[in-house]
Amino acid sequence: MNILILGGTGQVGFELQRSLAPLGTIIAPSRSDLDLMSEQAVSEYLQSHKPDLIANAAAWTAVDAAEKRQEAAYRLNGGLPEQLARYAVEQGARLVHYSSDYVYSGEGNTPWTEDSPTGPLSVYGQSKLAGDEAIQKSGADHLIFRTSWVYSARGHNFMKTMLRLAQEKESLTIVADQIGAPTPAKLIADVTALAVHKDLESGLYHLTTTGQTSWHGFALEIFKLARQMGQVLTLQAENVKAISTSDYPTPAQRPLNSRLSVTKVEHKLNVRLPNWQLQLELTLAELLK
Ligand SMILES: NC(=O)c1ccc[n+]([C@@H]2O[C@H](COP(=O)([O-])OP(=O)(O)OC[C@H]3O[C@@H](n4cnc5c(N)ncnc54)[C@H](OP(=O)(O)O)[C@@H]3O)[C@@H](O)[C@H]2O)c1
Repeated sequence: MNILILGGTGQVGFELQRSLAPLGTIIAPSRSDLDLMSEQAVSEYLQSHKPDLIANAAAWTAVDAAEKRQEAAYRLNGGLPEQLARYAVEQGARLVHYSSDYVYSGEGNTPWTEDSPTGPLSVYGQSKLAGDEAIQKSGADHLIFRTSWVYSARGHNFMKTMLRLAQEKESLTIVADQIGAPTPAKLIADVTALAVHKDLESGLYHLTTTGQTSWHGFALEIFKLARQMGQVLTLQAENVKAISTSDYPTPAQRPLNSRLSVTKVEHKLNVRLPNWQLQLELTLAELLK
């Protein structure tokens, strides 16, 4: 099987290069090999490489910047998946794509299921939803995994930012009323490999760790575990203050309720997704030990 990984330098894409390796021959063009903003370049690349499986981990992930760069965000998050789905239909290929908790409105406090109504609050969320809907409408054989709060030992993410700030600052304020499940890129990539290997039924799935926390709770756990692993942090836990979203205005609005039910993927793959704290410990150990 020829496997094309897009976004191979990103958090999820990098891990996919490892997890999908036993399943086929991988090609993972970097941005300098293939600029995904160009529809023509993508089209030519697909025609010359003819992948059987496309794992699209590329995206416009700068949530706040998307508010001003709508066209670019829509090309990467909406137009590109639509183009990949068209190729998948024409060639009988399978498309694996990643989406986001930001497609939901964030109302209420119960977990969203794959059937829940969407209601994105930001351009990023709207553009991700456009991508999901284009794939679903295309008739392509697809797996869409909606995930949340992605982090990893490499790349830019909340965990790494918190570790840096905890070494630089003596006090910090962190939002405590957005609730979700921090999810390591490795877990997403490993479950993707399992799903491809088991030929998981085409469709939309939530894929996160289990349990829930706030950004504030996530940060406190990062600091606690980092100390246990021998990190010297300037920041003391009592100086990490919980604030509400309204105290921290950002260009893009974020959902308060990012809880995603993972029952569907657990049931269809016959797996149990792990708890967020245990996964954080592993990811921190990878980075720090
Ligand atoms: N990060 C999160 O918290 C989060 C939460 C929910 C869902 N998701 C979704 O999960 C998926 C993976 O996210 P991630 O965090 O792994 O993303 P990421 O680390 O930001 O990586 C994005 C990838 O896209 C590539 N890319 C962007 N524009 C490109 C262009 N014009 N040409 C070629 N490559 C381009 C980047 O290449 P460069 O390295 O060259 O920039 C990078 O490899 C995405 O679909 C995202 O929407 C993420």
